[in-house]
Amino acid sequence: MKISDNKATISFSNGDPSFEMPVYKGSIGPDVIDIRKLYGQTGMFTYDPGFLSTASCQSAITYIDGDKGELLYRGYPIEQLATNCDFMDTCHLLMYGDLPSVQKKKEFTHIVTHHTMVNEQMQFFMRGFRRDAHPMAVLTGLVGGLSAFYHDSTDINNAEHRDISAIRLIAKMPTMVAMAYKYGIGQPYVYPKNDLSYAGNFLRMMFGTPCEEYVVNPVLEKALDRIFILHADHEQNASTSTVRLCGSSGTNPFAAIAAGVACLWGPAHGGANEACLNMLGEIQRNGGVEKVGEFITQVKDKNSGVKLMGFGHRVYKNYDPRAKLMQETCNEVLAELGLENDPLFKLAKALEKIALEDDYFVSRKLYPNVDFYSGIVQRAIGIPVNLFTGIFAMARTVGWIAQLNEMIADPEYKIGRPRQLFTGSVRRDVPAADKR
Ligand code: CMC
Repeated sequence: MKISDNKATISFSNGDPSFEMPVYKGSIGPDVIDIRKLYGQTGMFTYDPGFLSTASCQSAITYIDGDKGELLYRGYPIEQLATNCDFMDTCHLLMYGDLPSVQKKKEFTHIVTHHTMVNEQMQFFMRGFRRDAHPMAVLTGLVGGLSAFYHDSTDINNAEHRDISAIRLIAKMPTMVAMAYKYGIGQPYVYPKNDLSYAGNFLRMMFGTPCEEYVVNPVLEKALDRIFILHADHEQNASTSTVRLCGSSGTNPFAAIAAGVACLWGPAHGGANEACLNMLGEIQRNGGVEKVGEFITQVKDKNSGVKLMGFGHRVYKNYDPRAKLMQETCNEVLAELGLENDPLFKLAKALEKIALEDDYFVSRKLYPNVDFYSGIVQRAIGIPVNLFTGIFAMARTVGWIAQLNEMIADPEYKIGRPRQLFTGSVRRDVPAADKR
């Protein structure tokens, strides 16, 4: 963070003295105005619900240029990472700042692979849930529950604890997501197998049974690995900011990540992939491609409350680069499974085409986001719709951890404590019970 020669001055029309604030430059992206002394000097707060113009921290992990539609992890374009690297490379990159050497990757993969089992007791913890519980409800509980099982890695101020909890979270998320699935359908849990890749192991834990050997399909394995890479981090989005805010109190890493899982669940965030597929299913049931025009009219009617799920983004005002890569993967997976004529894929393409030509979407710069195609890929792989957000959580875990650890190492790290514009009642006295 460099101080710029430029300075910002805030002045007031009521004649109060003006106030000068420093401006900082990042390596790329917009400059920021440091308003930290504003309250002390002027007695005023800034007001920015939704953080439309507020940088909540400095970070060197992920950069998004929303106008260009560019996404960089530690400087590397997402297209290159998705094409030339795998998820283990990406995890190493996000956590430690650079892509691993061949030897480092071996060591990193080994340590992740050897932490995939969960404490056997977690099976009994699972039994407290209803079989029809939403997997995100189960996951929120299980991730938070890790702090009850791994007492030796709960001190956020201890670097060794942070390291081992990070590995445990990345390694155990697939096991817990698969357990949530198996529990829901009443099948036995499948233990992790150490000679498989991260994605291959997850596929086996999901779709294998103790009755026969499970053979991993390399096309599906690669597709899943790409889903993980594309979802691994996305700078200060709602769930990442939640993890940072939660962790800023000094709570343990498992608790902070559980808060991220809970936040991700919402349909405006990670829940959009589930909502998007449900939307496509609904249009399909009501007449399919023929009804796309009617649906778009509904979306454009502000009173309908209907949104085109998988479209729009707070930061991207251009095509989400992850959506392009996801569409490519979608083609590969559907071809592999002989589902090229999948009606939902056709429907998604028709919706996208109409929306990209429609003035409502063009004028608001609404483009497909990553969730528009990821649901179709996951459904083709056999992942149930209500588990989509769980897959997102699994992939985002590394980003949450990298961001949490970056925050703790930041010398400017403080407990997060936003202020407010109070609009409630001024001071009043409690009336007697018979006068209320
Ligand atoms: N369908 C219809 N209209 C939309 C949509 C949409 N999907 N998204 C935004 N708009 C309209 C919105 O009504 C507003 O119109 P107006 O200016 O006339 O009031 C305008 O576009 C700007 O939208 P906004 O709500 O101010 O934008 P935001 O930055 O607050 O919201 C968003 C971003 C992602 C929550 C929103 O675009 C949305 O709800 N999209 C659908 C859900 C979705 O796909 N979410 C996944 C995001 S990507 C994955 C992730 O990060 O988890």
